[in-house]
Amino acid sequence: MSALKNDTFLRALQRQPTEYTPMWLMRQAGRYLPEYNATRARAGDFLTLCKTPDLATEVTLQPLARYPLDAAILFSDILTVPDAMGLGLYFSQGEGPRFERPLRDEWEIRDLSAPDPTDKLGYVMDAVKSIRRALDGSVPLIGFSGSPYTLACYMVEGGGSDDYRHIKTMLYSRPDLLHRILEVNTRAVIDYLNAQIEAGAQAVMIFDSWGGSLTPHAYREFSLDYMERIVAGLIKEREGRRVPSIIFTKGGGNWLEAMAGIGADAVGLDWTLDIGEARRRVGDKVALQGNLDPCALHGTPESIRTEAARVIDSYGNHPGHVFNLGHGISQFTNPDNVNVLVEAVHSHSRAIRAA
Ligand code: CP3
Repeated sequence: MSALKNDTFLRALQRQPTEYTPMWLMRQAGRYLPEYNATRARAGDFLTLCKTPDLATEVTLQPLARYPLDAAILFSDILTVPDAMGLGLYFSQGEGPRFERPLRDEWEIRDLSAPDPTDKLGYVMDAVKSIRRALDGSVPLIGFSGSPYTLACYMVEGGGSDDYRHIKTMLYSRPDLLHRILEVNTRAVIDYLNAQIEAGAQAVMIFDSWGGSLTPHAYREFSLDYMERIVAGLIKEREGRRVPSIIFTKGGGNWLEAMAGIGADAVGLDWTLDIGEARRRVGDKVALQGNLDPCALHGTPESIRTEAARVIDSYGNHPGHVFNLGHGISQFTNPDNVNVLVEAVHSHSRAIRAA
């Protein structure tokens, strides 16, 4: 395996000094890129892209060919895990992800088990290995999974939801059943992330997209405690380096101190809080990743530079910042604006270190 040429991302996650603020973008490989849409059309559909390692490798590298980003992220989806549990994932046009067999019956929940990641999810590990070969040490590769609670939301609702009625009904009326699902998901995520690390992922991120819809008490009991167990179960070192972990709860800003206390190396932030204030709240406990409003990319080059500088200046000249958006990049983003952003983040952060 070739030596890593750009390790700024991994160093920033460990709160070590870097010459500039490293950055990547959530959903950096996606529909805002015409080359992604072309590959997806060739594949036929999104799931085929995920399940074909050569195509997953091709799309993972597309944003890196355009922009000097500091990390690559495995091209896949969080819902491959419940798919491997037998729920039957499909994507209906314009409706997002759906499951053929949502989890509602007690006997199905009792029967649920964690998939062997090298068997049913072998295509993901093949993609990780293939992407590592293709990257050839240029930047590190991030592996990821959904959080147990976010996966459970999709598994119980059968798809996306506005009100989470089914899972919250279970949470309040049969918490034992929800805990049973979360136990299985936790085992599945630990095994899945460790398999990605063994296949070559150099950092891992847990996406808790729906934990922010919970009450503070329920967040601790049904989401954060399980993420804490995952972090404790992860492989910590590989290829002679730490494999840092990042947790991201969208809408979790109120619980920042709690999120910073579960042992993860970094916490991802959405755009609803000031990153400088977040840093003061967590001190030196964790690195922070974020947190530009994805819609800022719909502005002008001038406003994009201003907003990027606002985030960097607010964080301050202090180690431990990975620049990112506060959520996934929108499919309506103009790819030229991403160029403006990457250039602005790198040059502005170099300038404030020199000042
Ligand atoms: O960041 C990256 O570039 C890596 C790839 C990645 C995808 N999904 C690709 C994708 C990652 C990290 C995810 C995570 C994911 N998937 C999350 C957590 C992050 C978040 O957004 O909160 C969630 C909740 C999902 C489930 C999911 N997958 C949804 C809700 C959708 C439809 C939303 C949409 O944008 O239409 C997907 C599909 C999906 N996953 C696409 C991509 C590029 C679009 C598929 C396509 O039509 O080509």
